[in-house]
Amino acid sequence: TLPSSVRLFEMSPRDGLQNEPGAPVPTATKIELIERLANAGMSHIEAASFVSPKWVPQMGDAGGVMAGISRRPGVVYSALTPNLKGLENALEAKADEVAVFGAASEAFSQKNINCSVSESLARFEPVLARARDAGLRVRGYVSCVLGCPYEGEISPAKVAEVAKALYDMGCYEISLGDTIGVGTPLAAKRMIDAVSREVPMECLAAHFHDTYGQALANLYAVLEEGVSVIDASTAGLGGCPYAKGASGNVATEDVLYLLKGLGIETGIDLQAVIDTGYWITAQLGRTPSSKVALAMGCQ
Ligand code: HMG
Ligand code: MG
Repeated sequence: TLPSSVRLFEMSPRDGLQNEPGAPVPTATKIELIERLANAGMSHIEAASFVSPKWVPQMGDAGGVMAGISRRPGVVYSALTPNLKGLENALEAKADEVAVFGAASEAFSQKNINCSVSESLARFEPVLARARDAGLRVRGYVSCVLGCPYEGEISPAKVAEVAKALYDMGCYEISLGDTIGVGTPLAAKRMIDAVSREVPMECLAAHFHDTYGQALANLYAVLEEGVSVIDASTAGLGGCPYAKGASGNVATEDVLYLLKGLGIETGIDLQAVIDTGYWITAQLGRTPSSKVALAMGCQ
């Protein structure tokens, strides 16, 4: 059965822009994007990433972005923090919430964060402890839940094991990433079934990239299983720097249209998101990849 309400976690300022080729996206543009998304009714926005600027240059101005946004009451502005250094920077920048990110694939973990899966979990422990002391909630990501660019197939049991480790460590929510968008609905359903035996369904989020055009179908499959938190990126912006060829998260506009058709409320203004998608892609010299945005047009 479908959930009666769904919470969206907006990814475009972080997952959407982290892999943008060419010149750095100006800090002011990122700030305006975040403010437009908040004004459209988003309650959770991943605003920045406190990672090494040598690894991900587009996120090098994370502190400036966090300092520049005018905070809308009730909106959670989150940031990625792979280690204690990232967490300290996020605390200084007054992030409302942070996230650690691991993987269900050893090879991807090495390429993305330069350590093994078990080393990453050990590294996250002090991040969670310090965040807890500071009163911040921590989200946990698991990458490659439906396939890995280096290892190929990933077993649902491995995904469940890493998700459980993050949950047991204190992450309030586990976001399951189909990093390269290779999943299909039955595989997505089987993966969620395995993970939800270890972590409560209400603590799971679907983070699906749309590389193979399957993200909406996969989302529908996991909504039916009871998942009620969806990560999405306005205009379908994004890709992962350590997953060659991966395209953006499922477009927020497309998810909103799907949910509206299913009678599931989110409180987000679809037209305002569409307009934001046209605006940000114009800044980047493109058009939105959301089908719904193309069909409905900018106002
Ligand atoms: P490392 O090189 O192993 O770390 O990188 P290190 O501790 O040896 O430090 C090396 C240098 O980095 C030092 O500087 C540190 O100070 C600096 P140097 O002495 O050489 O000048 N450093 C930092 N600087 C700023 N902020 C920090 C930080 N930490 C160390 N937090 C590290 C390890 C994790 C830092 C590196 O591998 C990294 O930054 N990786 C980033 C990977 C990333 O951002 N990937 C994209 C996000 S994940 C994703 O997109 C997937 C997701 O969307 C879900 C999905 O779709 O599946 C979440
Ligand atoms: Mg992602």
